[in-house]
Amino acid sequence: MDVVWKRRFLIVGTFVLQSVSLHYSAEPSALTLWGKKVNFMLHKCRYLQLRDDLWIPKLDELTVCLDLWTQILTQDWTIFVYKKRGGVHPQLGLAGEGDNLRVWLLEVSWLSSKKLSLRSWHSICLTWSGLERRLGLYINGTRVDLKEEMRIRPGPLSPNGTLTLGLSHGFTNGDLIPESGHSLPGCVSLFRMWPREHTSQQLQDLRCATGNLVRWTASDWQMDSCQAIPDASLECGERVASARRPSRSGCHTASFARLPLSQWNCVDRFGLIC
Ligand SMILES: *[C@@H]1O[C@H](CO)[C@@H](O)[C@H](O)[C@H]1NC(C)=O
Ligand SMILES: *[C@@H]1O[C@H](CO)[C@@H](O)[C@H](O)[C@H]1NC(C)=O
Repeated sequence: MDVVWKRRFLIVGTFVLQSVSLHYSAEPSALTLWGKKVNFMLHKCRYLQLRDDLWIPKLDELTVCLDLWTQILTQDWTIFVYKKRGGVHPQLGLAGEGDNLRVWLLEVSWLSSKKLSLRSWHSICLTWSGLERRLGLYINGTRVDLKEEMRIRPGPLSPNGTLTLGLSHGFTNGDLIPESGHSLPGCVSLFRMWPREHTSQQLQDLRCATGNLVRWTASDWQMDSCQAIPDASLECGERVASARRPSRSGCHTASFARLPLSQWNCVDRFGLIC
């Protein structure tokens, strides 16, 4: 088991390292979105789409974190949606129903038991382990119960799907078509994704850390007509690295965007640099 796991990690790890290293060499720091938000209520800004050539690998576990602000209450709205090409229901996603969140995983969904207040920033993380059939929703670092007793389907998450932020999407003849309704009545910042499940302790360490699968940088996204807007009230500011040192000895949450390529051979399973 251990060997299988290790090999799997190596494969995914290699994939991630390769894709991120490529980005690293191509990414001027001017493209960073840290300290900035995208406001989906602005007239022309409908959605962000994960860049076409940034392929999500086949995943058995993952973590997604983002900061969310809603301005007004609407009934059905979308934070992000990841779909298998041609798929109807999300493989992974977060949506809103009034002031509640709905989590999507492997085409099944659950409603959150915690209400979100309007006009404040909420830090939201989703964690999943396929092996353990474990799904976690965290708001401001606190684990939140999911209401419905639905079974988590066996994984993996389909690879090479399509991800939109701020709006859902469908497909026509294989082409991605953004949905016309259910847009996000607010702002998102710091959308990041890691190919690992994390514990609540580890999520604290990742609060202001960059993602290693999807990062909050303009080079990972097709921005449509959206502009990133500086917002001084964002907790992590312009820093790319972690604000806090994790308790695990010898490791620090890395600023991947600023690392020399030579340091890539020392990434542990939490996406931290030792
Ligand atoms: C999360 O924290 C922010 C700022 O500390 C607060 O305004 C917001 O209401 C919190 N969200 C929830 C759901 O408790
Ligand atoms: C991902 O999908 C695109 C579009 O269908 C395709 O061109 C590409 O080869 C796929 N990549 C992988 C790694 O499967």
